[in-house]
Amino acid sequence: MQKLNRRQFLVLSASSTGAVLLSQCGRGQSQENNDYKRSLAPVYTSQNNLLELDLEASSRPVQLGTQQADLLTYNGQVPAPRLEAKPGDRVRIHFINNLAKPTNLHYHGLHIPPTGNADNVFLHISPGEKLTYEFVIPDNHPAGTFWYHPHLHGLVAEQVFGGLAGLFIVRGELDEIPEVKAAKEEFLVLQDFALDEQGKPLSSAQMSIMTGREGNILTVNGQTNPRFSIPKNGLVRWRILNASPSRFYQLSLENHPFYLIATDGGALDKPVKMSELLLTPGERVEVLIRGDAEPREYRLLNLPYDRGGMGMMGGGMMRGRGMMRGRGMMGRSLNRQTPMVLATVSYDAAVEPMALPTAVSTVEVLPESQQIRRFQLNHGMTPGMGMAFLINGQPYQSDLIQTQVNLNRVEDWEITNTGVMDHPFHLHINSFQVISRNGQPEPYRSWKDTILVRAGETVRIRIPFRDFTGKTVYHCHILDHEDLGMMGNLVIDS
Ligand code: C2O
Ligand code: CU
Ligand code: CU
Repeated sequence: MQKLNRRQFLVLSASSTGAVLLSQCGRGQSQENNDYKRSLAPVYTSQNNLLELDLEASSRPVQLGTQQADLLTYNGQVPAPRLEAKPGDRVRIHFINNLAKPTNLHYHGLHIPPTGNADNVFLHISPGEKLTYEFVIPDNHPAGTFWYHPHLHGLVAEQVFGGLAGLFIVRGELDEIPEVKAAKEEFLVLQDFALDEQGKPLSSAQMSIMTGREGNILTVNGQTNPRFSIPKNGLVRWRILNASPSRFYQLSLENHPFYLIATDGGALDKPVKMSELLLTPGERVEVLIRGDAEPREYRLLNLPYDRGGMGMMGGGMMRGRGMMRGRGMMGRSLNRQTPMVLATVSYDAAVEPMALPTAVSTVEVLPESQQIRRFQLNHGMTPGMGMAFLINGQPYQSDLIQTQVNLNRVEDWEITNTGVMDHPFHLHINSFQVISRNGQPEPYRSWKDTILVRAGETVRIRIPFRDFTGKTVYHCHILDHEDLGMMGNLVIDS
């Protein structure tokens, strides 16, 4: 066994404490310039400004809680290996598609080129094909919690639901804030699954794709109800990703408020105290949690949330009807009535009292926008397609440019949801700030790349288009909606 770096060692040893590690604990990673080795270790960290690895997409047996499942994996793991790099690092991923269907990779939230072999979602990698992704993370890239997943239009929901998703961490200033640095860091990747009798993910035909597929097996880091701990008097930093294709998580940790310090695109100005956190598909948060309660066990809960449209399969489109009927697996998988336990948190021995940071970062104040664009989200029947999900009345057409913008300009996009279901709106390449929701200003400034637009709402976002020209996309991050047409092509011109 090769030497592990400290972080890899921590991950491996943490996983041997009874929790199921989904990978074989293979060799560690040594990456000296071009001398990289394939590794099954769950974390790949850049060395000498280079993050280089082999990444294989394939169907593999994986232990999901008490069940044996046949999932879609990157390097045999669900969730996929965590990648860690720093601003200025070069990333080189030798990707091979050993799936039965075509695929590609998207680096959700990263500010990198949408072209070439970088964050290009128009690449098509056939079964058996290889492709090397290569890009440089800009020197001024914010630190934050990003992720990677497949993005081949029409197959995105199916492949992400199969398990293909992993964290992409950019380390930087946020990690150096003393209080944040002192906190015990944990990563929580939230994924849900639905399996057939053979342990294979249910196919698109077996799922309610109109509402967006949800599974009845809820996992955190590929485990059902895993354990986390908080040092008494101490601080933990949880970095949470919703990697589910459709499920919303309304998170609550019994007796512990969350102190939000970062959203999709990085750090906030200062911590924001919240008793509950809503995380829609694709969104990430970083929170601090204080170990100031009585030392015992507490549950991390997913509280009921009604995202609308659940009556659709019965022909109607009523909101708030609760569980669906008559669809076998689906009926059981949609539980909108009762809280569900995601994880259990216990207390570790007391440490010196740790304080919350008073300031975290400075979120840039963007200049007034030079242009306003309007987007209307809805769904409808389209000839030949059946139910389609629409932006400005049109389903996605891959050969058209729906939106054209200019580099170095700031735009406001006003996104209105006139349908009956909530839609988390996502933009690639450039993060944005939310200006208002139904005309009400946002309570704090933050960088986002995915923002919930509830049924009936209008959300105004402000986007600076910076650094990169080329063609990319925006879409609903309920990935079935994206696959069913709620997406647009965006061209950024010089
Ligand atoms: Cu996370 Cu276009 O996606
Ligand atoms: Cu994305
Ligand atoms: Cu949607």
